[in-house]
Amino acid sequence: MKVSIINCLQFLFLVFISSSTQAHSKSSTKVNPVHTETRTCFSRRSPCFLKRITCPRQCPTSHPKDPKAKVCYIDCYSPICKAECRNRKPNCSGRGAACLDPRFIGGDGIVFYFHGKSNEHFSLVSDPKLQINARFIGLRPSGRKRDYTWIQALGILFDSHTLSLEATPAAAWDEEVEHLKFSYDGQELNVPTGYSSSWTSANEDLKIERTESKNSVIVTLQEIAEISVNVVPVTKKDDRIHNYQIPPDDCFAHLEVQFRFFGLSPKVEGVLGRTYQPDFKNPVKPGVAMPVVGGEDRYRTSTLLSTDCKSCLFSPIGVLHQNFAFMKDLGIVDCMGSTKIGQGIVCRK
Ligand SMILES: *[C@@H]1O[C@H](CO)[C@@H](O)[C@H](O)[C@H]1NC(C)=O
Repeated sequence: MKVSIINCLQFLFLVFISSSTQAHSKSSTKVNPVHTETRTCFSRRSPCFLKRITCPRQCPTSHPKDPKAKVCYIDCYSPICKAECRNRKPNCSGRGAACLDPRFIGGDGIVFYFHGKSNEHFSLVSDPKLQINARFIGLRPSGRKRDYTWIQALGILFDSHTLSLEATPAAAWDEEVEHLKFSYDGQELNVPTGYSSSWTSANEDLKIERTESKNSVIVTLQEIAEISVNVVPVTKKDDRIHNYQIPPDDCFAHLEVQFRFFGLSPKVEGVLGRTYQPDFKNPVKPGVAMPVVGGEDRYRTSTLLSTDCKSCLFSPIGVLHQNFAFMKDLGIVDCMGSTKIGQGIVCRK
């Protein structure tokens, strides 16, 4: 983590401004024996704007050296403004998850399945500022009524940019081999392998950071969303249990994903997105073991990066305008260099 001295000074200066108006005592000189980090949120939209938040002792840092350790996390868009300990890997039982043969957990906490169709694309989230599509892969063993499907790729559109993230096919799974491929604005993107290595876009609104040396990343779209991703194969055990009849020459490498969204609109659409509508009535009946939802016709897109589904809401032009004002606003507090992306920033004492 690179935090230059100048950045730190600017950080302290800003803290000074915010705290001097409240006539605080000298809390910045307090000695903390566990060396917990102090973090803050640098977006004016955040209810925690410039509040100093101390990480819990159980997870004193937001970038632990141990990939398995929990990280200190601040949700800058929740009014609580407290740090919490969190896994960086997708939690397939948590809200916003899309794992397995896709099993989703909605924003309302309700589990549902959406099968889609293999080799087709469906919008998982469609909102004026954000579109996330998924490419489904799969197979249909003879005699079955539907395809068995997995999410092989995500196509993400935000302001005027696109990011795609794909699991590369493999005959057999080897966790020592990288199975992730990224493209940004149509160009292949190299995110060096190695735990914690990362890539940040030129205007710092997008960051991809590895949460394992290979096959796991967290993607941060500043102020919009955070996406934890693992690439995994369909295991022999799953194949046996579900009788998928996976062929010997393809392990169906696919994505396990967990989304966190900041500031979706109340009209948000998409297979998963609509479950974040404040007044969403989930069609899933309670007590059903494997509730399947439809919507293929409303959410199908023609490619991984198109926004042409019937219920799609993404509008890059409206966003461009909003975003200009927004970036200017950010510029005022742009003192953290490449570390300002994500949930607050770090400044060590
Ligand atoms: C995953 O999320 C579920 C539901 O919120 C929670 O009960 C569980 O403890 C989480 N697992 C981990 C490893 O954090």
